[in-house]
Amino acid sequence: MTASLLKATPDTQPDQVVLPNPKQNGVPHVGRMTWFPYYAGFSSVFVDSVLRDLRCSSKTTVCDPWNGAGTTTQTAFDAGIPSIGFDLNPVMTRVALARTVSAQSAGVTAEQHRSLISDARRRRSQKIHADDPLRVWFTDDVVRGIRFVAGAINESCDTTVERNQKALHETAVFRTMKAMLTPFRSSNPTWIRRPESNQRVCGTVRGFLDAYDETAQSMFADLRDEAVDTTMSEPSVWIETASSLKLPVKECSIHGVIGSPPYCTRIDYAVTTSVELAYLGYDITSSERSMRHSMTGTSTIRPKQPKILDAWGTTCCTFLNAIRRHPSKASESYYLKTHLQYFDDLYRSLQEIFRVLVRSGDSLLVVQDSYYKELHNDLPQIVAEIGTAIGFQLENRQDFPVTLDMARVNPKANQRRITNRPVESVIHFKKPK
Ligand SMILES: C[S@@+](CC[C@H](N)C(=O)[O-])C[C@H]1O[C@@H](n2cnc3c(N)ncnc32)[C@H](O)[C@@H]1O
Repeated sequence: MTASLLKATPDTQPDQVVLPNPKQNGVPHVGRMTWFPYYAGFSSVFVDSVLRDLRCSSKTTVCDPWNGAGTTTQTAFDAGIPSIGFDLNPVMTRVALARTVSAQSAGVTAEQHRSLISDARRRRSQKIHADDPLRVWFTDDVVRGIRFVAGAINESCDTTVERNQKALHETAVFRTMKAMLTPFRSSNPTWIRRPESNQRVCGTVRGFLDAYDETAQSMFADLRDEAVDTTMSEPSVWIETASSLKLPVKECSIHGVIGSPPYCTRIDYAVTTSVELAYLGYDITSSERSMRHSMTGTSTIRPKQPKILDAWGTTCCTFLNAIRRHPSKASESYYLKTHLQYFDDLYRSLQEIFRVLVRSGDSLLVVQDSYYKELHNDLPQIVAEIGTAIGFQLENRQDFPVTLDMARVNPKANQRRITNRPVESVIHFKKPK
């Protein structure tokens, strides 16, 4: 990695990095990018531009510690660059994996689908467990159809089936369920209403299987429509369910990190995928609270509370003390705790990124500011301060106004805090030589 990110434009100093807006707005989504729209995602145009500027090649590895729907890993994969992506949510791991099925493998994956859909159609009895979390959303016949497909996927995806191909079959289930649950969604993309039991989505086993087949076929068509570069060999890609606080990667092994940590806006990333998690057997309302606890930005309170560290920087410590002193109800008893958890996770994740990067390696992080009541949570500044305290050189920062603001789509948002439009920033750190 070099300082070759530097580009001179009339508005910038010659030694400043110019980065494109990370947001997806205005960027047409096609093919695999459309498979699982993720409000929290950044654009492949942004990732592609960073990969070029960092001069990534087939000999360098990039990592996204919060890989989400896999924009970083898909873009690197398409460019022939080895990549690694982690996310704590096993649903997002599946989606990101599915997006690395290449156009060349479309035929064999479609063949697997033909065999598993006929297996699912042949199944006759499937005991529905009383505590199957899918029963929150769907009536028993629909759940039976979903479980027929799940059984066929799990039994037919043996060692000859690649992980990403299996993930594609599962992502087709996620998409089919999501389409059926449209009535329970609102303008807030992070929210899905839990229906009363008499309002659950009803249908037949056959209806679900037909819808699933149609979704899968559209995904194979997406793959077939992609241009195939037969001269490029497929780069290695490793996508795993893991925490950014403990990256399962050796120190000094990653050349570039591109990622966006969860926003500090009380978005519960596990809740937003509760239906897909239910398919995987997780009931986030009961037994699986531990997954919600471990998510950065969780609104649940963990059993052990971290202490403020000086290394979090002046901006962070001042902000946390202002929350502690805030007169509003629950500021000190609840909101201070969720913010402490958030910044502790962020600090430990940045330490991990520093550990795994090679010397002179680059890290490009996309972060967004927000408000707690009228208090400004200047996350870009906080990240810059934490990063420098850890030992990074702060190379540059670019700010972009945000058009889709989660505080505005959330009907419960406090109106006082939304007069200022949030800013999304790209922070460029370099690990010293
Ligand atoms: C802002 S999103 C990233 C979106 C991604 N850049 C994309 O384009 O799809 C943040 C992601 O971090 C994940 N996450 C939350 N806490 C995590 C943790 N401690 N370790 C790893 N991933 C985490 C969430 O599940 C979510 O998918």
